[in-house]
Amino acid sequence: MAALNPLLTKVFRGPLDLNGPVIGRLFYLFEYARSYVEERLEAFDSRFGTDTSAPTFERNQKTSVHFYVPTTASVIYEILGSIPLQPDKFAFVDMGSGKGRALLVASEFPFAKIVGIELSDHLHRSAEANVARYKPESQQCSEFDLKCMDALDFSYGDEPVVLFLFDPFGREILQDVVAKLEASLRTNPREAYVVYVYPQYEDVLQGSRILRMVREGGPKWRPWSKYVIYAATTAAAASMGIEPPPLT
Ligand SMILES: C[S@@+](CC[C@H](N)C(=O)[O-])C[C@H]1O[C@@H](n2cnc3c(N)ncnc32)[C@H](O)[C@@H]1O
Repeated sequence: MAALNPLLTKVFRGPLDLNGPVIGRLFYLFEYARSYVEERLEAFDSRFGTDTSAPTFERNQKTSVHFYVPTTASVIYEILGSIPLQPDKFAFVDMGSGKGRALLVASEFPFAKIVGIELSDHLHRSAEANVARYKPESQQCSEFDLKCMDALDFSYGDEPVVLFLFDPFGREILQDVVAKLEASLRTNPREAYVVYVYPQYEDVLQGSRILRMVREGGPKWRPWSKYVIYAATTAAAASMGIEPPPLT
């Protein structure tokens, strides 16, 4: 929300945190209604026989661990359709993959593999069941690797990567996740994109010396669908008409 409205960001910290114990419950109810309406409009689960729509607030969930709610499917299609992927080269990594909505949509794009990282065992098992059910004719990638683990413990492979984040956690964890990606890109320079949907802490990406914003989208009146895409390499940035950031 920092990029959307700095004042609101301050207000919604501490006890008024949208993922905190008080406001979080109300926010959850709003998200529940929103997801219900979106499912009626997009019919994602009813078309594919999956179970990704309902938000889930885990018991004793820490404020820094944001509750599960799926990304609007049409927004994921729009985002991934805008990234110039060389077929079968990129890994798609969803940090905080929840029930797997973004993983399922990503499988309709030519990724080499699709990795889901989810802290909650219960959500991780839902994602496994959803992956097993999801078989659209348009599926292009069936190499799924679902891990039940903390995003902070994830190690990147050597392939180009699209890192997908839909408001999964708080600022401190995001800082560590981005620092780890930057370290991996310094050791092994390659193409990388960071997609951040509902970019509350976009200033973390803005502070990066490796990543540069190449695209933003989503209607302002639907903050949960607003997104930014940052790119890491010369080729990636240039292909989107942006002066490339130096890899240092
Ligand atoms: C808003 S949901 C995003 C769901 C999914 N990415 C999508 O787009 O449909 C955020 C998810 O991040 C998970 N999460 C939060 N902190 C995490 C961490 N440190 N490591 C792994 N997953 C985490 C939560 O359990 C939740 O399922």
